[in-house]
Amino acid sequence: MKISSADFIISNSDVAKCPNNPFPEYAFIGRSNVGKSSLINALMSRKSLAKTSGRPGKTQLINHFLINKNWFLVDLPGYGYARTSKSTKKTFQKFITNYFKQRTQLVSAFVLVDCRHEPQKIDLAFMEWLATNSVPFFIIFTKADKLTPNTLPKHIENYKNKMLEFWEEMPPYFITSSSSKQGCDEVLTHIDQLNQEFYKNIK
Ligand code: GTP
Ligand code: MG
Repeated sequence: MKISSADFIISNSDVAKCPNNPFPEYAFIGRSNVGKSSLINALMSRKSLAKTSGRPGKTQLINHFLINKNWFLVDLPGYGYARTSKSTKKTFQKFITNYFKQRTQLVSAFVLVDCRHEPQKIDLAFMEWLATNSVPFFIIFTKADKLTPNTLPKHIENYKNKMLEFWEEMPPYFITSSSSKQGCDEVLTHIDQLNQEFYKNIK
């Protein structure tokens, strides 16, 4: 998919105040620092459309970006960032879960996980929560450039095997790097297909 425009629209912590255009929407979620905002920039070929940081907890709100004037990409705060106060953490969780429960435009979520790590409890718990709430999702492995071409497939295989201890099947997944742009075309092509289905169904 060619990106002809990518515009920041609004940030907020209240799902009721998110844009009410009926465009198909995709949300990036995952642990703090996993690379959600960086991947949004890489997909859009923009340096700082979404704000990134080496320190976890950078994205604190629901951020809507309007792409090609007909779909939304949403950058969400990370979960599992222990350094925020308990009450702030709770607020994050509530408005994030409200977002997923109430956002009817949402076509699917992308759960980002660092390809270097084994499945983390919090990621598995969040995926389970999505499934329980009937939110379709895909997995995106991030930071593929941090592993050698030899070790990367081993890590993915290991992740799959561990996931299959809890899941009947592995959700569809993408392997990406914001630095090398590996996997970016695949993610965009996939969103393009989902957009086409979305618009076909509402005709
Ligand atoms: P929060 O907003 O805090 O939840 O974090 P985030 O998931 O949005 O992460 P962000 O995109 O801000 O990136 C966190 C750090 O990881 C930054 O220092 C990025 O430069 C780095 N990073 C993100 N993606 C990649 C990648 O693909 N490769 C490498 N090498 N570094 C990455
Ligand atoms: Mg972020």
